[in-house]
Amino acid sequence: MENIEKVVDFINVQRDRYVDELKQYLAIPSVSALPQHQADVRRCAEWTAEQMRKIGLQNVKLMETPGNPIVYGDWLGAAGAKTILFYGHYDVQPVDPIDLWESPPFDATVRDGELYARGAADDKGQVFMHFKAIEAHLKQSGKLPVNMKIILEGEEEVGSANLDNFVKSHKDELAADVVVISDSPMFARGVPSICYGLRGLVYTQIDLRGSNTDLHSGSFGGAVANPGFVLAQMIAQMKDRGGHIKIPGFYDDVVPLTQEERDAWAKLPFSEKQYRKDFGVPKLQGETGYTTLERTWARPTLEVNGLLSGFTGEGAKTVLPAVAMAKISMRLVPNQDPDKIASLFEDYVKKLAPKTVELKFTRMHGGKPWMTSFDNPFVQAASRAIEKGFNQTPVLTREGGSIPVVSTFQEVLGLPSVLFGVGLPDENAHAPNEKLDVGNFHGGIISAAYFYDELSRVAP
Ligand code: BES
Ligand code: MN
Ligand code: MN
Repeated sequence: MENIEKVVDFINVQRDRYVDELKQYLAIPSVSALPQHQADVRRCAEWTAEQMRKIGLQNVKLMETPGNPIVYGDWLGAAGAKTILFYGHYDVQPVDPIDLWESPPFDATVRDGELYARGAADDKGQVFMHFKAIEAHLKQSGKLPVNMKIILEGEEEVGSANLDNFVKSHKDELAADVVVISDSPMFARGVPSICYGLRGLVYTQIDLRGSNTDLHSGSFGGAVANPGFVLAQMIAQMKDRGGHIKIPGFYDDVVPLTQEERDAWAKLPFSEKQYRKDFGVPKLQGETGYTTLERTWARPTLEVNGLLSGFTGEGAKTVLPAVAMAKISMRLVPNQDPDKIASLFEDYVKKLAPKTVELKFTRMHGGKPWMTSFDNPFVQAASRAIEKGFNQTPVLTREGGSIPVVSTFQEVLGLPSVLFGVGLPDENAHAPNEKLDVGNFHGGIISAAYFYDELSRVAP
């Protein structure tokens, strides 16, 4: 029997154990956004490192950063073979609103073939898939077909503030041939995919102040500006009715969609009607002249992520709020630059703000968009591996989400990335009832095992 077949046989009989182990990983509330979970985040890094030692990785260590540690491990015994740099994240999103979870977020539960827990899909479950593929190779043949370096960060969900510096200051240690990431959904249930593009991001906050304290809206209304109202007027000027962003210069560097991409995407099994139904959307909207896939994958957007002003409790209160706040972010596409866009937006917001309010503009985090040509041999190898793991040829997709380090890997290390994710579009990432399909988890482990094998045959 060929080596890889033994590895796959091994994986097939371990199904239940894999789910049980993943449940332990998911039990650690490694919420990077919340200070009260700081100790849990570190405990999760330690658990991750221990797991990496158990499966047979070497040189496993926590590498400190000014924030949460990066977990590193490698296996470099495949002389002459390619080297994978695997990246993922062990931190997770907060769980609120907690009332909407059907089972506790950190007590992973299988229902109807889905494993429900915070981090199941984003990203612990998908990281774990690779752990188990590595373990199977090492247990079955004492070696991997490729060299492997793994870095897992604990700050992805809060903007990866320390990761770029880490990559820049560990260039030699991270030298490899290709980056592999599983941190994205597949196109649809039964339609595995490889993602060749991600959007970038600029995240900002706008604070307005109209007076030094809340005021009686009867005594002062009409004479003093209402920051809630002013903010609404400002936001209303950020996009026109056709979904076009009105920031001057915003579209200057946007790479237009190619006809080839538009034709390919039009052939994907996607129904706008079903999409509307799945997510309870009364009617779809967006930039005129583009389909839903084009709008989310290849066109930039500006969104209000949060809005706060005045009295929002039950009942009524006649008040003129002193302050108003909005969190506003923009998803970017090649070749938009986050710093440049942030400056254009800041200038525009300053122009929109009337003299009746005090404005504070804050730039938060950001990241560059990314796109790769999909005819590179690593993508081809991934495609063959997924085909074997899922009995289905993967389709090529772009995604609307962001993984800022992907462009850093390209720019700083000169490395291409292969993004093969096995989540699903309705996985509820960042939302209540996050889940991972157990069958996809299993198919992902087999595909990963095949992928390492395929990479060992990629020509130098
Ligand atoms: N796994 C996602 C990125 C993702 C989402 C890729 C959907 C493809 C499709 C990642 O954990 C994430 O949430 N990223 C943030 C980045 C931000 C905090 C800089 C995002 O996209 O909002
Ligand atoms: Mn993720
Ligand atoms: Mn995420």
